[in-house]
Amino acid sequence: MDFFTFLGRFHPLVVHLPIGTLLIAILIFFLSRKKKYGFLAPALDFILLLGAISAALACMLGFMLALNGEYDPDTLFWHQWGGILLALLSFVLYWARIRSWRPPAVWIKFSYLPFLVLLLLIFFTGHKGGNLTHGSEYLLQHAPDPLRVLAGLGPKPIPRPPVTNLDSADIFLDVIQPLVASKCQSCHNPDKIKGGLLLHDYEEMLKGGESGPAVIPGNPEESELFRRVTLPEDHDDFMPAEGKPGLTGDQVALVQWWIEQGAPSSRLLANMDVDQRTGDRLARVLGLKISKSRLPGKEAKPADPEAVQSAIDQGFIVDRIAPESNFLEVRLPFTGQELKADAFQSLLPLKEQIAWMDLAGSQLRDEDLEVIGQLSSLSRLDLSRTSVSDKGLTALGNLRELSYLNLYGTSVTDEGLANLRNLEKLQSLYLWQTQVTAAGAESFQAERPDIDLDRGYL
Ligand code: HEC
Repeated sequence: MDFFTFLGRFHPLVVHLPIGTLLIAILIFFLSRKKKYGFLAPALDFILLLGAISAALACMLGFMLALNGEYDPDTLFWHQWGGILLALLSFVLYWARIRSWRPPAVWIKFSYLPFLVLLLLIFFTGHKGGNLTHGSEYLLQHAPDPLRVLAGLGPKPIPRPPVTNLDSADIFLDVIQPLVASKCQSCHNPDKIKGGLLLHDYEEMLKGGESGPAVIPGNPEESELFRRVTLPEDHDDFMPAEGKPGLTGDQVALVQWWIEQGAPSSRLLANMDVDQRTGDRLARVLGLKISKSRLPGKEAKPADPEAVQSAIDQGFIVDRIAPESNFLEVRLPFTGQELKADAFQSLLPLKEQIAWMDLAGSQLRDEDLEVIGQLSSLSRLDLSRTSVSDKGLTALGNLRELSYLNLYGTSVTDEGLANLRNLEKLQSLYLWQTQVTAAGAESFQAERPDIDLDRGYL
């Protein structure tokens, strides 16, 4: 059995012989009907025979390959019979030619028909074979939409926008699905259903294959999918099979975490309780620079549209942090226009929703920080290159969710820093080009070793 499998794997290589040879035979047949190319005709019989023999060989190897491969039965049926017909037809054609068999006179002018059928069979069988190995979407995956629609595939799926921040990434759509697509789908797709398992779609993933559900939400240990990727690599059941590159440590840990979190089909990381280690893993897998700014692990209520409008009227730019989230990001336009004295007051009705504020380089005054200090959901605040001073910082002491604070290029000193000691969630603090001294930073760090202090290249 093993030996059959060994031979069977030569099928994809050997099939190219009959394809090439028979195409040449067909070409010669049509060309040699012209006087100019008549000299080619004597080679036709020999090439046809070569094509027939190699087609028969490819059929036999194909059988061996199909014995253990779990291919889509429908596609396999058509591919197999296409191949058999192809081999038979070439033998019959060869035989008819060496016997100089002539069709009845009325049919003579249609003697090209068998060669035309041969040509169609080559394309048909080859295409079905391609679908068996690559999946039926492979050929037209990058085709223009009109062509895809003609082929019944529907327009290209809209790609997910690139992930630029952890909070706006989706645990399934941006993390788990791409991972499974790259490492598992080549064998678990509608055309090649190994183990009866489809992994191209969430519902199918949960449904599982021959041995039952592949994912049991909340329970990684009982999930066949997780068990398979955590086995020793030389175990028979290890996935991906056939020595394909396995999941990395980060990927395995994230699959586990996703299942523990109930294996959601879509959920924004902003709305999940992401611990530090998982956050680091996610950032690595998503190729993000590790930013330790994190939102509270629960969703905010939708913002009052009137409140949003009045903030916009005051000159702020207000956006959702991700299309699916109610949390807001507030920025100022680059033009550096002056804000009205009480502009920041307009943000107070949004205090539950404002999670990020980028005020870098703005005309912000210390008084404004008193309002900002009341934005209780704020997790990320950029005050770099503003005139904020120690006095202003005293107002930030109550920002319970603040995890990222950028004070680069401000006049903040050691004294101002002391006000930040009690910010429990603070993880990243940027102090480059401030008045903070090395000694001041050190004593702060001694008290809060968990905070990443960035003092630039000092
Ligand atoms: C090279 C082909 C190949 C790749 C790649 C591959 N698998 Fe498989 N998979 C198989 C075959 C063959 C089986 C059936 C034999 C068996 O059960 O071991 C299988 C079976 C399974 C099963 C058991 C299905 C059942 O219900 O019996 C699971 C779960 C699974 N694979 C998960 C994965 C995951 C997750 C990945 C990606 C990390 C993956 N596979 C990648 C070939 C592959």
